[in-house]
Order: sequence, then structure tokens, then C-alpha cells
Amino acid sequence: MRIDIIAVVPELLDSPFQHSILKRAATKGLLEVVVHNLRDYATNKHQQIDDYQFGGGAGMVLMIEPIDACISHLRQQRPYDEVIYLSPDGELFTQKVANRLSMCQNLILLCGHYKGVDERVRQHLVTRELSIGDYVLSGGELAAAIIVDAVGRLIPGVLNNEMSALEDSFQDNLIAPPVYTRPAYYNDWDVPEILLSGHTANIEKWRMEQSLQRTQERRPDLLK
Ligand code: ADE
Repeated sequence: MRIDIIAVVPELLDSPFQHSILKRAATKGLLEVVVHNLRDYATNKHQQIDDYQFGGGAGMVLMIEPIDACISHLRQQRPYDEVIYLSPDGELFTQKVANRLSMCQNLILLCGHYKGVDERVRQHLVTRELSIGDYVLSGGELAAAIIVDAVGRLIPGVLNNEMSALEDSFQDNLIAPPVYTRPAYYNDWDVPEILLSGHTANIEKWRMEQSLQRTQERRPDLLK
């Protein structure tokens, strides 16, 4: 999969894809992330990418020309499954959305800034809008990093069997069960005996019960 990120502050994305599982995905040739500086696509001599809003009001608005120039440039090189604008008023990004996106070939993530983008970008240039949650970030870059992380690890072949995403929280609308490792006895805080029993079927049953109980306690909305 290739993900192109159009950013106002590309430096924010210098490191997130260079470590751990996303690095693994890149090394295996399964994920390529390319960050573009929106300013490189400015169409006037001042390299301007934002301007005052018509009608007055505080805050600058990202202009349509540089965004259109960047998206057109990318679209000339390959077809894109989605052009996604990151915004707090977009559709909520969930594990279900991540699963769907992990099956795409090419994605563009457009990061907003300041007051946002000229509405015509949303009307004519993007195919989808996503929010990572009900809070406002200074810009879309960190949201883009989160989406690339959540989607990247789901690309077939990125995780091996041991790391399988199938048992992650939310994958089946359940919270994952608790996990333990050595030592089995520490202070007076013991690991549940059943996990040390070696009885696979009972352990599976216990994990499922724990998942259900945790979901009931912490996220009852997921069970509805
Ligand atoms: N840009 C600013 N806030 C955001 C959010 N919550 N999700 C996605 N993009 C954003």
C-alpha cells in the first residue's frame, strides 16, 4: 500500500513511520508512506497556502489552489482509492474503518490546519472525511500518523501469526482479555491459576469470559 500525506507541518511526521511495526511494513515492501509539504505546491510567488476567510472572522483558511495542485500531481501518477481529509467533524475513525482502509492500494491523507480548508476542497477534491475523536488538534498531521499506524499494521503480511491482529481489542467488538508474563508470583500478586494450567480449552473459555466482562464494564456500548 502507498499512503501520501499532504501536510502543512511535514516535520511532525519525520519519525512515526521509522520504528517498530511500520518500519517492518516498509522493509517488507508492504507500506510506503510519502509526506508532501503543501507549501511546495503554493501557486503564488509568496509560497502562500492560507488566506483570510471571506465574510470576516478569526483564523486563516487553507487555499484550494495548492491542495488541488498537489492532489492533481499525485493523481496523474496513480489511481487513488480515497482522498481523505482529516478533520474533527469527519466520520469517526474506528477499527472497522481501519480494516476497510487496510485493503486499499493507494490513499491520500490531507491534513487540515488553522480554521480548516476552503469548503470547495471538501466538496470537490476529497472522497471522505475522518476524525480520530471528539477533540480538536492543532492540525491533521498527528491524526494522519495515527491512521497510518492503525491501518499499516492490518495490511496482510505486516504482522506475523504471533502478532495477529485478530485478537486485538475492537476487532470483534470486544475488549481484549488481560495478559500476564513471568514471574508467575510477584509480591502477593498472582497470575490467575488457569493461565498456568496448560489446559488450552479452559484458557480460551476464560479469556472469552474476561473479554465479555471487561467489555460489559468498560465499553457496554460495544455490545449493543
Ligand atoms: N484535525 C484537528 N482535529 C482533528 C481530529 N480530531 N481528527 C482528525 N483531524 C483533526
